Amino acid sequence: MIIIDGPAELSGELTVQGAKNSTLPLLAAALLCKGQTVLHNCPDLSDVDTALRILEHAGCRCKREGHDLIVDSAVTQCEIPEELMRSMRSSIVFLGAMISRCGSARLCAPGGCELGPRPIDLHLSSLRRLGVDIEETGGWLNCSAPHGVEGAYVSLAFPSVGATENLILAAVCGKGTTIIANAAREPEISDLCEYLNRCGARVYGAGESCVIIDGVKELFGCEHRVMPDRIAAVTYMAAAAVTGGNVTLRDVDNTHILPMLGPFEESGCEVRQLGGCLNIMAPRRLNPVRHIRTMPYPGFPTDAQPAIMSMAAVGRGTSMFVENIFENRYRHAEGLGRMGAKIKVEGKVAVVEGVERLTGAAVESADLRGGAALVVAGLSAQGRTQVSGTQFIRRGYEDLAKHLADLGARVREEEA
Ligand code: EPZ
Repeated sequence: MIIIDGPAELSGELTVQGAKNSTLPLLAAALLCKGQTVLHNCPDLSDVDTALRILEHAGCRCKREGHDLIVDSAVTQCEIPEELMRSMRSSIVFLGAMISRCGSARLCAPGGCELGPRPIDLHLSSLRRLGVDIEETGGWLNCSAPHGVEGAYVSLAFPSVGATENLILAAVCGKGTTIIANAAREPEISDLCEYLNRCGARVYGAGESCVIIDGVKELFGCEHRVMPDRIAAVTYMAAAAVTGGNVTLRDVDNTHILPMLGPFEESGCEVRQLGGCLNIMAPRRLNPVRHIRTMPYPGFPTDAQPAIMSMAAVGRGTSMFVENIFENRYRHAEGLGRMGAKIKVEGKVAVVEGVERLTGAAVESADLRGGAALVVAGLSAQGRTQVSGTQFIRRGYEDLAKHLADLGARVREEEA
């Protein structure tokens, strides 16, 4: 568990970790590319360890040297064992890469955070459009592309990040051209395609709603630096915001942060961005964040909603949240409520009436971003907050407690 003695006032500098949600699809892509791939700036996270175990199970040799990952993709089989599939939702993104590399794949329906049913219907229907046979029996997916992947026109009913990544990974070595309409535009997609194109792929329009992929025969691994983690960055910004702090973040891609700046400015924080750095200065007491509506990129990202709710919880007024992406992404409201926050959740809508000061309490993480939001709230609360379930937090944040302590918080991690 993570133990925080609040209130704190954060100040100082911090280098933001590499993006978890870019590292994971990049590791899937490394399986598809022959030879060696070197990924720089990879965060040390349990989800990344799970992805490395999936690669090793497929026959790849993986080595971590600090924040560098070296993958020799000598793939011998394309199956993912159940325990690895269940421990991480994004393991589904290996499906497209395995089909490209082996012409087949066998895996079970993914697990991951309980943010809602987390269906994979868009992944499967899209891959079937590319000529992949997918048999779903007893929770297992037996996939094969006996005649190879055939380029096709695919229109996504929803701009799913994972389905877009799977489609691209399946189509890069397919026969002919694939056109994806209503593709997800998240920066992690652009990061993935930058790597793939450097490996010899022909992907055009990544980051836009229409992505065109001209299949090539094979791809060879290369070096790539993972983009900075925009959600980790916003989490630290929220920590500075709720503590009246003054924090500078290094290695921030300012374009990626733009869709999330609104609530910080609304609540009275001063944010200055220069080159790859960002400085945030917070007022003693925050104004409310007013209205947050989560949308696919370039809208406000659902992953930032929990941390911003911790800001709204201590704002001078009422804020309203509409969570349009996941059905069950307000689980942190329960923990915030135990700390004295006044939050009413009705389906997609949450109304938060800011209070003067939260009170430390024992609270439980239910998912990755919700757990981090409870830690953020603990920084501003009066007294001791114990956040348990930190195995969720370790999935996405490298050394969260240590980084916050380096910024002046009284926080430590203990075995529960
Ligand atoms: C990715 O998940 C991220 N994970 C999530 O971050 C992020 O919240 C999400 O994109 C949205 O930005 C990784 O990149 C590893 P989706 P993904 O497919 O791909 C529905 C975190 O905390 N849907 O865009 O699973 C789905 O149920 C994680 O780092 C279908 O209905 O997200 C959800 O309501 C959490 N059918 C919505 O689309 C499908 O086949 C968005 O899902 C696929 C998705």
